[in-house]
Amino acid sequence: MLDSFKQAYMPETTFPDRTIDTDKCSRCGRCYETCPAGGFSWTKGEVPVPIGFGGFKQACINCENCMAVCPSGAIALSGSLTIHKGRYKTYLSGHMQPPNPFNQEHPDYAVIEKELTEVERMIFTRRSNRLFKDKAVSKDMIHRVLEAGRFAPSAGNGQPYQFIVITRQAVINELESRSMTVLKLLKNTYLNRNGRKKLWKSAFFSASSYLMVNKFDPRPMTAMEKADRNMGRIFFNAPCVILILKQKHGISNPDLDAGICTQNMVLAAHAMGLGTCIVSLPMVPLSYPIMAGFRKKIGIKHPFEAVTSIAIGHPKGKIDGIVARDTPPVTWIE
Ligand SMILES: Cc1cc2nc3c(=O)[nH]c(=O)nc-3n(C[C@H](O)[C@H](O)[C@H](O)COP(=O)(O)O)c2cc1C
Repeated sequence: MLDSFKQAYMPETTFPDRTIDTDKCSRCGRCYETCPAGGFSWTKGEVPVPIGFGGFKQACINCENCMAVCPSGAIALSGSLTIHKGRYKTYLSGHMQPPNPFNQEHPDYAVIEKELTEVERMIFTRRSNRLFKDKAVSKDMIHRVLEAGRFAPSAGNGQPYQFIVITRQAVINELESRSMTVLKLLKNTYLNRNGRKKLWKSAFFSASSYLMVNKFDPRPMTAMEKADRNMGRIFFNAPCVILILKQKHGISNPDLDAGICTQNMVLAAHAMGLGTCIVSLPMVPLSYPIMAGFRKKIGIKHPFEAVTSIAIGHPKGKIDGIVARDTPPVTWIE
């Protein structure tokens, strides 16, 4: 019990080692810009430096997107993110592997790729895109993406979703700035600037983790810090944001339906050459009473509630690509 209390806030974590080959590095800063955790410091013309902050030894969530966007293959990650104890303990094997659909001993994606279907290729190469061109997405393309969502499977064919497509920058800005007011308060309380875990923070975040375990995982705190450093740009200057709403009274588990619908849209968008990032950071603030006026303004009405959103646009340079992922346990019952 005491251990669980100690480990609910800033739990003991092993982070992957990130190294940058200074000979290969083109000093473009794309890894710095794309990292969802604000995990690099960078001065123009210099080699980026992997960093941690606020009590995180390294600000890294192990997504390998820095490697995917690097034009010169200069970044290497070894090890995996492991939270050792407590409420946020990870249950992964720590064994990171590239896609291995044919269960080979030494999978080589370049060879495997030729045997794959277009859908598999899209699934394996899709990366969350946080670098967007300053270019609008055409209404036709957005419509195609929405159609992919509309044809997702749903429990009892309930189709418990609605979509809000925002391309008016002023509204995206307002959603960002209103959400950041709440998110900044949370992450400024959470982050541990002087390197010591304060007892009251352990008590507060431990209690919070019992009330809302999913909301107090340490990892999203790094995304909030990144957004804060980036002038509150939660949607990375994407020209379009699609909100996915669920009908709260929907059959069975409307959150699951909304998630499946979201992924349909994301894969369709990547197949069309667009880039996407699923963004949930603003969803908790958006549900708060202080945002009732904004919800009304953008058309969120009971019994609907925003589940997540997709930032969508034209990717700036190559972003999609192959990375390694952990290998969760699989039980075969034959
Ligand atoms: C439900 C959900 C919510 C997410 N919210 C955010 C977010 O708020 N901000 C962000 O930068 N990325 C967000 N992501 C993207 C994840 O960080 C990303 O999927 C993960 O790091 C794996 O990287 P990949 O998508 O490139 O494979 C979210 C993803 C999902 C599925």
